[in-house]
Amino acid sequence: MSATPTNRPPPLNLKHAMKNIKHESDSEAHRIFREYAGHAPRGLLPQTVNPDEETVPGIQHPGSTGVIYCSDRAMANGFSYASSHEWANLGQGAPEVGQIPDSPEKPQTISVPVDSLEYAPTTGVKALREAVANLYNYTYRKGKASQYTYENVCIVPGGRAGLSRVAAVIGDVYTSYQVPDYTAYDQVLGAFKRLVPVPTTLEAEDNYHLNIQQTRKDIRTQGLQVILASNPRNPTGQVIRDGELKELVELARDTTTTLVLDEFYSWYIYPEKEEDYGKSVSCAEFIDDVNSDPVVIVDGLTKNWRLPGWRVCWVMGPKNLITALSQSGSFLDGGANHPLQLAAIPLLDPERVLVEKLSLQRHFKHKRDHVLKRLEQLGLKVKVPPQATFYIWLDLADLPPPLNNGLTFFEELLKEKTIVIPGIFFDINPSHRRNLFLSPCHHFVRLSFGPPLEDLDKGLDAMSRVLRNARQGTRHFGHSYKKSIDSPTALSHHI
Ligand SMILES: Cc1ncc(COP(=O)(O)O)c(C=O)c1O
Repeated sequence: MSATPTNRPPPLNLKHAMKNIKHESDSEAHRIFREYAGHAPRGLLPQTVNPDEETVPGIQHPGSTGVIYCSDRAMANGFSYASSHEWANLGQGAPEVGQIPDSPEKPQTISVPVDSLEYAPTTGVKALREAVANLYNYTYRKGKASQYTYENVCIVPGGRAGLSRVAAVIGDVYTSYQVPDYTAYDQVLGAFKRLVPVPTTLEAEDNYHLNIQQTRKDIRTQGLQVILASNPRNPTGQVIRDGELKELVELARDTTTTLVLDEFYSWYIYPEKEEDYGKSVSCAEFIDDVNSDPVVIVDGLTKNWRLPGWRVCWVMGPKNLITALSQSGSFLDGGANHPLQLAAIPLLDPERVLVEKLSLQRHFKHKRDHVLKRLEQLGLKVKVPPQATFYIWLDLADLPPPLNNGLTFFEELLKEKTIVIPGIFFDINPSHRRNLFLSPCHHFVRLSFGPPLEDLDKGLDAMSRVLRNARQGTRHFGHSYKKSIDSPTALSHHI
């Protein structure tokens, strides 16, 4: 039966209908659908409630790293390249790079032969790999049957690139890390989704050393397969060495657990006895067979050679690991700068290295002792003083509130043109699940004695002013902070 002209539906206005369904936000039905739990769009805008986190469709903002956050807050308080001489940057995660007493001259020019205009191999220039292997054999493996060769070395464009190359080839396994540790582990452990990060908290009572007995138990009961740690450790300035380090390497060997030791501060150790100057720390000393012990070392020119801008670093380990890293390097970073790899070769000469180490240890020990003494005079006694690195892990718990938390102490020092790093950034927490006030790092800041002594004094003077004001009462603290500038960009100052 056909419809009569009177009950026929009105014609659809198709043009109008198309206009309305262009975007979900134009449709109430779609909006209602999206409001239901679990219906939020993934990979499409809008993903979050904070407009600063929006990028473009499909891109998830990684959040601001500690480096960017601290630089942004410093800039909001007037820090700029032009004004940087007025500031004390005790947040700095790099050593001073200029001449220090008795250090060998740094190269002023580098040559760029035509071959170096080509890509370098993703494992690095062979002669540099050989130089690294020789230096480790000379320093840590004299008289041992198993010696490193170039095949055990992969040159990488910086320590973080090395760590990322390693993380990219870790399989679907429990990967142990400790709190506190180097800030970049947070993102590295979060970005490579196959590995499953498992935290352990280090305790002041253990001098922030990894508890080896507990780790042995965790390997057995939790099934840990990879352990990542910095040693010497950023930010606590502690180091495990000698028998303890030997035990850790043996643990890795006995339990076939891969130990990834980030040894970027291996020269920054501060001997008590004159004859110990010039010694450095590496697990390379305790490895039996360089091709079968599951031990991976990450180091480079960044801190020990005081050349952070060169971006020439290395990962060492069994041959098969190096071929795996060649693969991850071929899609992650494409290899380190070719001319600078060539220029690095003479810097690894063992005789030159010994002179560097001696001058570095004397100079940095002097700075460490100076800062510790001044902190003590300010009533800020460091509970676990650094034995290594150029960092002081300062516990603020005894200060009057609100100065007793790292984030507030940081803001108050910014008002005095001084940068320190709030402890929470070392609370490696790849899933960002924690309430900051519950973090074991919340009542800490990290002070760096990487910068020259004059800058350190400037920062300590600023701390003294804040503490003097605190004696008058704390009502001026905890508020009136400058708002951040519009577009946060990291300064070159690395934490
Ligand atoms: C423990 C540790 N590993 C690696 C690095 C980073 O090295 P790079 O600057 O060469 O990426 C740092 C720098 O702060 C560090 O503290």
